[in-house]
Amino acid sequence: KVHKICVLPGDGIGPEIMKVATQALTVAGSKEGEQFEYKECLIGGAAIDATGKPLPDETLAVAKESNAVLLAAIGGYKWDTLPSAQRPERGLLAIRAGLNAFANLRPAIVPRQLADASPLKRELVEGVDILIVRELVGGIYFGQPRGFGVNEKGDRIGYSTDVYSEPEIERISRVAFEAARKRGKRLCSVDKSNVLEVSQLWKEVVIRVGKDYPDVELTHMYIDNAAMQLIRNPKYFDVVVTSNLFGDILSDEASMLAGSLGLLPSASISGSGPGIYEPVHGSAPDIAGKDLANPLAMVLSAAMMCRYDLAIPNVADRLESAVNAVLDAGLRTGDIYKEGVAGTRLVKCSEMSAEL
Ligand code: NAI
Ligand code: MG
Repeated sequence: KVHKICVLPGDGIGPEIMKVATQALTVAGSKEGEQFEYKECLIGGAAIDATGKPLPDETLAVAKESNAVLLAAIGGYKWDTLPSAQRPERGLLAIRAGLNAFANLRPAIVPRQLADASPLKRELVEGVDILIVRELVGGIYFGQPRGFGVNEKGDRIGYSTDVYSEPEIERISRVAFEAARKRGKRLCSVDKSNVLEVSQLWKEVVIRVGKDYPDVELTHMYIDNAAMQLIRNPKYFDVVVTSNLFGDILSDEASMLAGSLGLLPSASISGSGPGIYEPVHGSAPDIAGKDLANPLAMVLSAAMMCRYDLAIPNVADRLESAVNAVLDAGLRTGDIYKEGVAGTRLVKCSEMSAEL
């Protein structure tokens, strides 16, 4: 089958790592009888320079007609002085909104070869493989009413509203249960239902949706406890589903289990229609164009795309094995290299690419 991929290299190291990922994807796919048709489009600073807009209409149109979107990274010094409404980052927000990507999937993986890079003890993090599913377009970041005012005592106040509707909770729950089904079949819903009404509704709806997924084991945890358990016993978790605010915090916390940005992929998806697959890191303008970038987060993003959007887990497995083989061989780009670790050596992006 031919899968249509909208390819968005973006800025900085984006084009370098995208080239590596599409090459690896083509090779892995060919071994499984899968083909990819890549349509490269503009986004971010590159799009501003060429068209004046961070997300040209044509890019969104191509994205909508594709099976999935692969995005590298956007931004750079050159555009840092533009007003925020015209900056490359707007392109990211616009494509997420344009594809209705309400679910953010952030794996936190600690490959055994890199367990030493974590700030936590090796035995604690070795083998960690968590997927955090964060609601991305609702909750307290968007809820009304919000604003500033004055209370009855005459003091200035600021207020925001944490609000979710049943359909909003239901759709993010389904994404999480579906993801759990494709992994370890355990889902932990994180809330604060001992205090917040919005969390009580959240929990009720997650339990109801769970009836459709009897093969997935559902548990619940309060956010404060979850923040602690993520450090105390991260291997407890498989898939975590939570609101926008709690997910923002937990996913940043979880990313530190690995200790390095260069290996973390992510997805922003709608559950129907194309999703956006991208590394967690940015465009690394400090090392752009020098063949120093770590391409593995981009390759792992392509693997996620195969698993979640394209339904070709065999190709995802191949890409993940290739990444493991590169790490087993001791190849390390600067971001994951640690001096004095036996059997490892500092390499360039292109050397890593050649082994994928
Ligand atoms: P960054 O993630 O680009 O870089 C942080 C540090 O990590 C840098 O020292 C960089 O060299 C290093 N690094 C990042 N990815 C790497 C890789 N694959 N291999 C080796 N080293 C890597 O974050 P920073 O510096 O805060 O932002 C730089 C630009 O990226 C800004 O314009 C920012 O707006 C943009 N950005 C874009 C994102 C996206 O496209 N999703 C996300 C975060 C930032
Ligand atoms: Mg954050």
